Amino acid sequence: MSSTIQRTAVLTGATSERGIGITTARRYARQGWGVVILDLDGEKSAKVAAEIGNEFNVPAFGYEIDVANEQSVQAAQAAVAAEVAAGNLPPVGALANIAGITSPIPFLETTVELWHKVMDVNATGTYLVTKAFLPDMIANGWGRIVNMSSVSAQRGGGVFGKVPYSAAKAAILGLTKALAREIATTGVTVNAITPGAVDTNIRVGSTEEQEAAINAGIPMGRNATAEEVAAAITFLSSEDSAYLTGTTLDINGGSHMH
Ligand SMILES: NC(=O)c1ccc[n+]([C@@H]2O[C@H](COP(=O)([O-])OP(=O)(O)OC[C@H]3O[C@@H](n4cnc5c(N)ncnc54)[C@H](O)[C@@H]3O)[C@@H](O)[C@H]2O)c1
Repeated sequence: MSSTIQRTAVLTGATSERGIGITTARRYARQGWGVVILDLDGEKSAKVAAEIGNEFNVPAFGYEIDVANEQSVQAAQAAVAAEVAAGNLPPVGALANIAGITSPIPFLETTVELWHKVMDVNATGTYLVTKAFLPDMIANGWGRIVNMSSVSAQRGGGVFGKVPYSAAKAAILGLTKALAREIATTGVTVNAITPGAVDTNIRVGSTEEQEAAINAGIPMGRNATAEEVAAAITFLSSEDSAYLTGTTLDINGGSHMH
């Protein structure tokens, strides 16, 4: 895609094998974007970035980040900004906030520590990373922010994650809409996606019965593939999505229609 060839996509949570993040990073690279991989393990992030850079012949860097830690987020943003300033990476045009954790613990068995952990990675992480990368996008007059929510935010769980997860993913929808409204004239759009069940490793530990129950509630009768979710993220990062901001794009096989 020639219109995006001069831009870099930054992705959080993009080293997990079979994950939505790594699949999306490959898709951006296939379309000609420079790619930055930010995940908990810095070495793995750099390795994944190098593999993607080599395969698709695009500039690619990977760094350590804990999205829930402000200092860590600022260090990662500074590392990316330094490569952009040095001419090794095109300016950041897209930010995909994909890092997330889930929890299947029933409400009365949750602890406040678990609540904070799930809120911190999903909601506070999206806030911190967006705050770090947004100023340069506004300065460039062009940007696409895509935030990872979940159908769990819309219909109160029902996939795997329970109360803290649904609450955190719902917070992301509020953040998305309010920020989209606040910065609507800057050239930067902010949108959310709400996948249903996606075939990745995040539900490791889920039983066969749980998986069968999930599929029984999906009109299409199957999970989404990570590639199907990645396609939505790159669409919301494209020139074609210019007039979409504050939207929530459902990717759920018909499991939630509204
Ligand atoms: N798989 C699904 O069914 C599904 C459905 C809806 C939404 N989602 C969301 O999509 C996103 C990706 O999910 P996935 O299925 O690919 O999961 P995954 O577990 O395969 O990947 C999650 C990634 O986030 C990273 N991560 C976790 N905590 C982090 C932190 N503090 N800082 C930086 N990185 C961190 C992990 O290292 C991992 O690479 C998550 O936000 C998840 O909630 C998944």
